[in-house]
Amino acid sequence: MVGTGRTQSALCSAKRMKPETTADGGALLLTGQRVSKPMRLLLIGAPGAGKGTQAERLAERFGIAHISSGDLLRQHVKDRTSLGRTIKSYLDHGDLVPDGVVMDMLRKPVVAAARAGGYVLDGFPRTVEQARASFPTAHALGVEVQVAVHLDVARAELVRRLLARRRGSEDTEAVIEHRLQVYLDKTVPLLEYYADREWMFTVDGAQSPDVVHEDIVAGLRKMTEFAT
Ligand code: AP5
Ligand code: MG
Repeated sequence: MVGTGRTQSALCSAKRMKPETTADGGALLLTGQRVSKPMRLLLIGAPGAGKGTQAERLAERFGIAHISSGDLLRQHVKDRTSLGRTIKSYLDHGDLVPDGVVMDMLRKPVVAAARAGGYVLDGFPRTVEQARASFPTAHALGVEVQVAVHLDVARAELVRRLLARRRGSEDTEAVIEHRLQVYLDKTVPLLEYYADREWMFTVDGAQSPDVVHEDIVAGLRKMTEFAT
């Protein structure tokens, strides 16, 4: 298994998509048979890098679940659950929600998705501590991430996208600035930590969404985990 014995991560929930039946067959092409092999992917990137956009496309193409920690947290805030009330100010300020809260929220959906054929995780882990804390459990359950994809986008483009999107309090100029700083302080060390692992590759996320998607699929094809 790719990454066995090394610190990986796993966790997050979601909407299961039906596999696309395109000419190149999506999961069929990579695995030989649909859902015969699980596909457990992780997308890492700065705010606005396109994690959600690409995760949705990959989920649809391969018939796996898209699990976004940010979407799940926002849903709790929207539904005014007790968890939502606890975490609202973290989201509003662009700060990371405490690790235990995020991991508790993600455990069940990640395990369920992994057992049902796979997942594409978007937004977790985003720190070295989260990766270290989640790996032992994920590995013991056989649901750890197999391949991580880093979406690389320059800062000016990230700011442009987020200002154009304006997703509530999270996308004001000051909060965007803070989220980008949190990314530099907390998530860039995770990329450095993963840097020499053969199961992570980087894609130029500044290209059009279609081209980014095809580059990710091409990268996955080169991975031994999905090559047969
Ligand atoms: P989260 O929801 O993960 O937000 P984020 O990392 O800030 O990223 P975004 O969702 O804003 O961007 P994205 O990379 O998904 O890009 P998207 O596809 O949307 O987290 C939110 C908050 O939750 C955090 O601040 C924290 O408080 C908390 N949280 C989440 N996970 C946590 C964790 N693990 N631990 C602790 N706290 C956690 O695209 C952005 C825009 O760009 C869109 O308008 C899109 O249409 C556009 N776009 C996308 N791709 C392209 C392209 N190729 N070209 C042009 N435009 C594009
Ligand atoms: Mg997102």
